[in-house]
Amino acid sequence: MMEDIQSVLLDQQQLENIVKELGERITRDYQNKDLLVVGVLKGSFMFIADLMRAIKAPCRVDFMAVSSYNNGSKSSGVVRIIKDLDKPIEGLDVLLVEDILDSGMTLSYLVENLKARRPASVRICTLLDKPERRKMPIQPDYTGAQVPDEFVVGYGLDFAEKYRNLPYVGILKPSVYGG
Ligand code: PRP
Ligand code: MN
Ligand code: MG
Repeated sequence: MMEDIQSVLLDQQQLENIVKELGERITRDYQNKDLLVVGVLKGSFMFIADLMRAIKAPCRVDFMAVSSYNNGSKSSGVVRIIKDLDKPIEGLDVLLVEDILDSGMTLSYLVENLKARRPASVRICTLLDKPERRKMPIQPDYTGAQVPDEFVVGYGLDFAEKYRNLPYVGILKPSVYGG
């Protein structure tokens, strides 16, 4: 596992600091709001678990799972909902939580889809942002860290469904993905 990682981008301590700071900002911003934290599976599962513990305001949590058509190539920009929210979100302050914002296809679809359900607000919190790769005009409201255009894995992020369990974010060796 570790031998597939070229370098560590964010170690456990850095992730802890990032999550703590994001949690404090969200706690401040969502006083007197009706916060629903929405995790986008699967990548966000580890981040959202830690982030929820750092949010010191009343909140709920729900999850969505999406997949792009064309079997993984996100070129179409068409996203399919595999698992939807359990309940309506009308009047709620929705915070979408992602592990990484890349082309922006996933989040731009989700934001539009959720806005149609008449929530009070929709915001985006992403652990990682790769602004260089953006294809859609979408900006996160809360960002943990901007990352270079490298193949990053760990702390929820996968390559071919592996490496999600790494407790840090690392750069994958190009030899592993044939780059
Ligand atoms: C990854 C990541 C984001 C999305 C970002 O998910 O977790 O959800 O891609 O890319 P985009 O900005 O170009 O849409 P993926 O589709 O790999 O599914 P996963 O979360 O199950 O790994
Ligand atoms: Mn994802
Ligand atoms: Mg993935």
